[in-house]
Formats: sequence, C-alpha cells, structure tokens
Amino acid sequence: MQLQGKSVLVTGGAGFIGSHLVDQLSDCRVRVLDNLTTGKEANLAGANCEFVRGDILDRTLVAELMRDADVVFHLACRGVRHSIGNPVESHLVNAEGTLRLLVEAHRAGVERFVHVSSSEVYGTARYAPMDEQHPTFPETVYGAAKLAGEAYVRAYRQTYGLPTVVVRPFNNFGPRSHHEGDSGEVIPRFAVWALNGKPPVIFGDGSQTRDFIYVEETAAWLRRAAECDELVGQTVNLGSGVETSVAELATMIYEEVGRADLRPEFQPRRPGDVDRHLAHVQLARDVLDFKTRINVREGIGRLIAHLRSTHANPAELLSETSTINWQPKERSAA
Ligand SMILES: NC(=O)c1ccc[n+]([C@@H]2O[C@H](COP(=O)([O-])OP(=O)(O)OC[C@H]3O[C@@H](n4cnc5c(N)ncnc54)[C@H](O)[C@@H]3O)[C@@H](O)[C@H]2O)c1
Repeated sequence: MQLQGKSVLVTGGAGFIGSHLVDQLSDCRVRVLDNLTTGKEANLAGANCEFVRGDILDRTLVAELMRDADVVFHLACRGVRHSIGNPVESHLVNAEGTLRLLVEAHRAGVERFVHVSSSEVYGTARYAPMDEQHPTFPETVYGAAKLAGEAYVRAYRQTYGLPTVVVRPFNNFGPRSHHEGDSGEVIPRFAVWALNGKPPVIFGDGSQTRDFIYVEETAAWLRRAAECDELVGQTVNLGSGVETSVAELATMIYEEVGRADLRPEFQPRRPGDVDRHLAHVQLARDVLDFKTRINVREGIGRLIAHLRSTHANPAELLSETSTINWQPKERSAA
C-alpha cells in the first residue's frame, strides 16, 4: 500500500517522534490529534498538516476524525518517567486510549492502523540482541501499559481483522527531543548540561545500555512499515542494532562540546531503569530492507548543532531541565 494521497491521522503528532513522522508525510493529507501535554505546536511549524488540539480519550472527537482517516499512526502517550509518579494516567492514555482508538478505527474501517509501541515492553534483556520473540516483562507501568496497548492491537487484528502493524522503536534522539521536566531524555539532558558547563548526573554506575536510533530515521521507517503489506498482523523492532552505555554517551557528548574535562556525578539508580537494551533488527531488514545511516556520534553532533542554532543562550534550556526527573513511587500516587 502506498501512503501518497491518503488521509492520515497521527495521534501525538506534535510530539518528538510524531512531528518528524509528519515531516515524512508531506504527500499525504495529514491530521494531527494532540492535546499538547508534552507536544508543541511549534514542532509542526511549516509542516503540511491540519492540527486538532484534543484528547485521544475524547470519544466523539476520535470517532469524527476516524471517519475521514484511511491510515492511523498512533503515537500519543505519557512517557516512562511520568508513569513512575502517575501510574493510572499512564494506563488511561497508553492502554485504554489505544483500545478506544481501535474501537473507532474498526468502526470507521481504516485501511491500516500503525501502533507505535516501545522497546520498554521487553524489560531488561534476558538475551541480546533482543528479537521480537524476546519475553515481555516490562519493569514500569509505562512499559506495562504499552504492552497492554499492543495486546489490544493484536486482539483487534485477530478478532475483527483490523489491518494493524505494531512497531517497537528503541531509544530515539535528535532535534525536538525532550530535555525538560519528567519528559527529559538522557541525550538531550546531557547535551544541555554540557553546553552549560555542568557535569553529567548519572543514575547508577553508567553501565546500563540502550540502543539509540536517530529520530529522522525512525520516522522514515515508520512510514515504510505502514506501506509494507507483509507487516500487517506483525510486530517489528526499530533500533540501530548497536549498544551504547550511559557512561559512553556522556563521554561522546562532553567531547563533542569540548568539555571532556567535566567528570560525571553518580547517584543511586532510578527505579524501573532497565539494565540492557539491544535490538535485533533482522525482521525489519528482511521485510523493509531496513538500515540506519546516522550513528550515535554523528547524531549527537547534529543534535548539538541544532541546540546551538536554536538557542544562542544555552542557559535558557538549563532552567527547564531537572536533575531528578522522576518521582519515587508514593502510595497515594495515581
Ligand atoms: N522517544 C523514544 O525514545 C521512544 C522510544 C520508543 C517508543 N516511543 C513511543 O513513541 C511515541 C511518541 O513518543 P515521543 O518520544 O515522541 O513522546 P512525546 O511525549 O514527544 O509525544 C507524545 C505526544 O502525545 C501527546 N499526548 C499525550 N497524551 C495525549 C492524549 N491523551 N491525547 C492526545 N495527545 C496526547 C503529547 O502532547 C505528545 O505530543 C510514544 O507512543 C512512545 O511510547 C518513544
């Protein structure tokens, strides 16, 4: 199936990955549904799309938008660190929100429903690289809710024949990534600290690894995954197939900004932090001819250049970052 000319609904399209996906869909009629909890309308500046500010939990709005959609990319979510202090909200958006979209997508007869899941559904690696058959033992409510969302997607394929694709991206980085608040990701936070001459704060000993993929590549491959008929009913990893530790990241980022003299500050590990993630990407290679071109070091260079060009005064970014960007669990938290 080709997406060119199709009506495409992107939930979470004002967010980090979603806005890059919208950039890849300039030959489609795109509508973005986003409530701007973590997304920004500015991420869509210059994009060829209609922006609808609203919630995926708003049944009437979702039904109306689905009626006009041929294809749905579902990315709206609350993030992993947010889930630590807000487990019920994480469930409502990431699991129940997905189910509600599926109900309306099936009713409207959409041609393809691409569910953007997460490598967090695996939990820490039992073996590496992790293929799509790797056991799913998520360690956070976020991972659990994303897994529930996936299960609903598969049930809609099996029970109702909805043409679904589940994609599991590994860790993304690049322009428009979050450095701020509880959305803050490790690479942009280190980048902001480095640009401000502050040392990196590492939770744990820094040996925990992730598989980082540059966001523009993820966005391009998400489109390809939607267009691939062979992937209907399947689940596919999107990662680089390269493992990088948090300590290595810190070294690369601080070298890039010329501040390799700043030594990391180590703090106790974060709850729910997985030890190891490394994607097995053979399925994507086989069915999509998947390959990545931008490695972590090059992507870091691009991110730093982007931050320098958009923020002449990096101190503005610093005030938005927090050192501990997750809240430990409280009995009453919901
Ligand atoms: N960033 C990563 O490294 C990564 C890795 C794996 C998977 N993912 C998945 O990719 C997707 C996008 O993540 P991201 O990193 O771009 O995060 P993001 O926070 O930038 O994007 C999520 C978007 O969803 C919107 N949103 C949240 N709740 C909503 C609601 N109830 N209704 C409508 N919109 C809502 C937010 O405003 C935001 O724009 C998510 O589904 C996430 O699970 C991300």
